[in-house]
Amino acid sequence: MADGTDQKSSNQMWGGRFASGPSAIMEEINASIGFDKKLYAQDIRGSMAHAAMLASKGIISPEDKDKITEGLNTILSEIESGSFEFSRKLEDIHMNIEARLATLIGPAAGRLHTARSRNDQVALDFRLWVKEELQKAEGMLTALIAAFLDRAEENADTVMPGFTHLQTAQPVTFGHHCMAYVEMFGRDRARVRHAIEHMDESPIGAAALAGTGYPIDRHMTAKALGFREPTRNSIDTVSDRDFALEFLSIASICATHLSRLAEEIVIWSTPQFGFIRLSDAFSTGSSIMPQKKNPDAAELVRAKTGRINGSLIALLTVMKGLPLAYSKDMQEDKEQVFDAAESLELAIAAMTGMIRDLEVRKDRMRAAAGSGYSTATDLADWLVREAGLPFRDAHHVTGNAVALAEKKGCDLADLSLEELQAIHPGINKGVFDVLSVEASVASRTSFGGTAPSEVKKQIAWWRGRN
Ligand code: ARG
Repeated sequence: MADGTDQKSSNQMWGGRFASGPSAIMEEINASIGFDKKLYAQDIRGSMAHAAMLASKGIISPEDKDKITEGLNTILSEIESGSFEFSRKLEDIHMNIEARLATLIGPAAGRLHTARSRNDQVALDFRLWVKEELQKAEGMLTALIAAFLDRAEENADTVMPGFTHLQTAQPVTFGHHCMAYVEMFGRDRARVRHAIEHMDESPIGAAALAGTGYPIDRHMTAKALGFREPTRNSIDTVSDRDFALEFLSIASICATHLSRLAEEIVIWSTPQFGFIRLSDAFSTGSSIMPQKKNPDAAELVRAKTGRINGSLIALLTVMKGLPLAYSKDMQEDKEQVFDAAESLELAIAAMTGMIRDLEVRKDRMRAAAGSGYSTATDLADWLVREAGLPFRDAHHVTGNAVALAEKKGCDLADLSLEELQAIHPGINKGVFDVLSVEASVASRTSFGGTAPSEVKKQIAWWRGRN
């Protein structure tokens, strides 16, 4: 047809140039509606802002703008009520909505795409979606941090073994250990906040890649859509997916933290460690072994990391060879982000639940903290402080004491004063004050150290920032 709007055999949007429709395979590889329908709300919001701007600049009439807005509102409720019929022939969410708008309001629908391309349209919709997802992640991380702060407060004095190489190293407090995760998730949240700032620029108006000759007002659409300002380079705007890559890299780092925590939960909840008991709500039983309580939620959090990291690598690989500006390859950006977002949300929520609910077995932690000669460093430090030994000599003397205790099958604190003096004559009974795990922990008052007094200061610092 002369106006190119009614070419059943080819395409409603570009039928003027095409004599026949796509092959079935072409349609299948080309269509994104199966997943980008998730962007319907952002697409409608973006179109409304664009139409309002076009009208305010006199590019379309106020009557057409009203018709467009009304039609888009109808489409929004059709999609939300489930009555909207998505068509794969119409490729993606943008064309599905525009085609429906044409059915609803007639020729005015055709004016909506003035001064716009699907290239800036999809960049806008996707950016809005990712921004909202980041805002959601920020809130979820805040809830996880709050859960940890509560557990840290309750356990500022709970002594447990600290590990290096998963070998008992020095006694620490469970509160201190919890605060290590607060630091990690705090950094994740800071990365999320920074990414929101970073991406807070509106793509709409970049058009296909070169901008447009229509007298549009990109600052107006940016403001209407809640962006700080419009993007500054139209070529970059339609070819940039950094905001998606940043989301995925933040998600990957965060998932890595969640996975390390999940691993600790798995270890701690074994009968051998027995440091924690997971609530029934976050564990499962075995169909054959009645005694089992399995940490499935933690294991699945650990596994989700694989999917999230995979999404990052997938999108990096999609983008790495693309010449400027838009290429259809970029359509492959969305599923990665959608999948990673779903996995990340689930993982944070499950972890928050596990942390809130878990039972801390203080007796088991205390018993383990005392074993494995965890106060050997305290003995060495005492020898430096009280007997004037150089640290390297003190280390050697302490090694002899550990060897003796090992031979006798007892703890360092169980050696007699005589036995200790036989190893080094400078030792006196004051040494027993530092051989207990409580004394060891209480003595570590350096900034950021494990002493309960320090841990409480760090909790207060974070509470002020949550
Ligand atoms: N569905 C497309 C995507 O997700 C929309 C943009 C299409 N642009 C184009 N020039 N074919 O990337």
